[in-house]
Amino acid sequence: MSEIYYPNPEFAKDAAIPSMDAYWELQNKAIEDYDGFWKGFADEKIEWLAPYDKVLDESDAPFYKWFTNGKLNVSNQCIDRHLDTKADQNAIIFEGDKGDAEHITYGQLSTRVNKMANLLKNEFGVKKGDRVVLYMPMIPEAAYAMLACTRLGAIHSIVFGGFSSEALKDRIEDAEAKIVITADGVFRKGKPYMLKNVVDDALSQGGKSVEAVLVVKRNNEEIAWVEGRDHSYNEMINAQSDICPFEPMDSEDPLFLLYTSGSTGKPKGVQHSTAGYILWAQMTMEWVFDLRKDDVFWCTADIGWITGHTYIIYGPLAAGTTTVMFEGVPTYPDAGRAWKMVQDHNITQFYTAPTAIRLLNKTGEDEPKKYDLSKLRVLGTVGEPIDPPAWKWYYEVVGNSKCAIVDTYWQTETGGHMISPLPGATPIKPACATFALPGIMAEIIEEDGTPTPVGEKGFMCITRPWPSMIRNIWGDPERFKKAYFGDCKKDGKPVYFTGDGAMMDEDGYITITGRTDDVINVSGHRMGTAEVEAAIKKHDAVAAVAVVGKPHDIKGEGIFAYLVLKNPDDASDELKVAINQVIKKEIGAIALCDAMAFVPDVPKTRSGKIMRRILRSIVKGEEITQDTSTLEDPSIVWIIEAIVKEA
Ligand code: PRX
Repeated sequence: MSEIYYPNPEFAKDAAIPSMDAYWELQNKAIEDYDGFWKGFADEKIEWLAPYDKVLDESDAPFYKWFTNGKLNVSNQCIDRHLDTKADQNAIIFEGDKGDAEHITYGQLSTRVNKMANLLKNEFGVKKGDRVVLYMPMIPEAAYAMLACTRLGAIHSIVFGGFSSEALKDRIEDAEAKIVITADGVFRKGKPYMLKNVVDDALSQGGKSVEAVLVVKRNNEEIAWVEGRDHSYNEMINAQSDICPFEPMDSEDPLFLLYTSGSTGKPKGVQHSTAGYILWAQMTMEWVFDLRKDDVFWCTADIGWITGHTYIIYGPLAAGTTTVMFEGVPTYPDAGRAWKMVQDHNITQFYTAPTAIRLLNKTGEDEPKKYDLSKLRVLGTVGEPIDPPAWKWYYEVVGNSKCAIVDTYWQTETGGHMISPLPGATPIKPACATFALPGIMAEIIEEDGTPTPVGEKGFMCITRPWPSMIRNIWGDPERFKKAYFGDCKKDGKPVYFTGDGAMMDEDGYITITGRTDDVINVSGHRMGTAEVEAAIKKHDAVAAVAVVGKPHDIKGEGIFAYLVLKNPDDASDELKVAINQVIKKEIGAIALCDAMAFVPDVPKTRSGKIMRRILRSIVKGEEITQDTSTLEDPSIVWIIEAIVKEA
């Protein structure tokens, strides 16, 4: 059995959920009276502009509706309602790549968001329901833009700045965006890095719905300008009034779209709703990070991912805390940067991905000791499994064996945390997500709903709807049903399947064992194998391709491609570089392959399905235990194995 780390009693006594008894009291209330449980929190946490009439409407399952007909506005929830008590408190602390910092109070945030909302409304006619694409760096204007959209009821879709023009164009077109908000560029490791040119490329290839591009100045580099289409935020913003009344939104109005990879080549536009999302963002912020007065919270994600949405912007601001936004990377100018920031800004909670922890450990094992990290109370991880050695370093060296570590398991689709320790309550087993949060009915089951026996891998399902769940895939309700409610049933009814496998131990602790579908987790980012394969197939020399995840010391998993060429004589290192260039163009640098092997064929069943499990085993150097008799040509397995071993 693994070691257990108990909550620090000093800290636990004032925690939001101070014991496992308190946890079970909440969870049992949810089990006994699900609607009552959620009603209590919705009434306490949300500033309703008009009351809702039903907590949960299951009549059109799996298109669940929460807090039906209620009215609220997320920018009110995150800003206006705090102004009486927190106008002078920092809402955002921004630190730039070069160390420049800006403190933005709730009062200032209000002014800037109102101005931005007026700019979008008055100059570009943005209104409720319009889609606004953000291709933005990590600068405060990105936060203003998100909140301005919610103020007007426009639906934002943020595209991570590492995606290519092709990927950006696809997302703009799928959402039929009216406007794109971007910046000239950003600073990264002291140098300018450009974004606006990517938007220009995307729009030269398509995206005809876009009427305007709003450009924020950040690195002041020279950029191309399309007269009539491009507009300068910096020149226009001062003329805007700082009063823009917020739009009363229905609980179920879409709040934002966020595209994520699935098992087909086309990314899915995950659609979140207004009330349910903001309620759970706020609740998890308060519970899992055990927020207290004067806390300064730093989540190192990028706003282009769900972690950035929920735990840089919406969760912290709805909860009225101070959130840190960082433009740069934690290893520049050296591997002590992150710890220096923790010291300089008096950070109390630090939330990052295991990839970053592994990197900071490898590149600067003793760096944390050089800084005063004594204000830290809670350390978090997200996005991928954390290995016990990285966990221990995080706990002992960064947290000085005093901080709770919350290994938070969740997804783009879940909106907020699903399974996580609670810092004042949960006895922690390293590298284990532990228990479902109160209100979340997480079960490890077989396809027919029978519970998976202790110690065996089963399907990680959430068997009751929850407020912050995905509502739809933008424009594709059939895919929504099939992707999430097509695999597992409980009591004969389809239930939400996460796509992950999981295992429960004899004490009821849940460990996530990884994706069961063809999705690779690179540095905590989700990459669909089909998406990468579709990009590679665009290279003329390639006849067939299969990509799989390969364990990687820092990134968790890297991408490995098996390539079958039209003409085997074309095989060369130059071709590998050229194929990575195609991936960069089609998706972005985040999807580059770490390694490739030229093979005569890939193992396929007689019906033509690629046997990826075998390819995964080969790349890990594992013995092939799978049945190869169903393959079209079983001998190919040994040929590929020999090629990969040699490479
Ligand atoms: O496989 C799980 C893994 O990340 C996937 C979700 O990816 P994405 O939607 O990009 O969201 C990442 C940030 C929430 C999951 O299906 N994952 C997430 N958190 C953990 C995890 N795997 C293990 N442990 C975690 N704590």
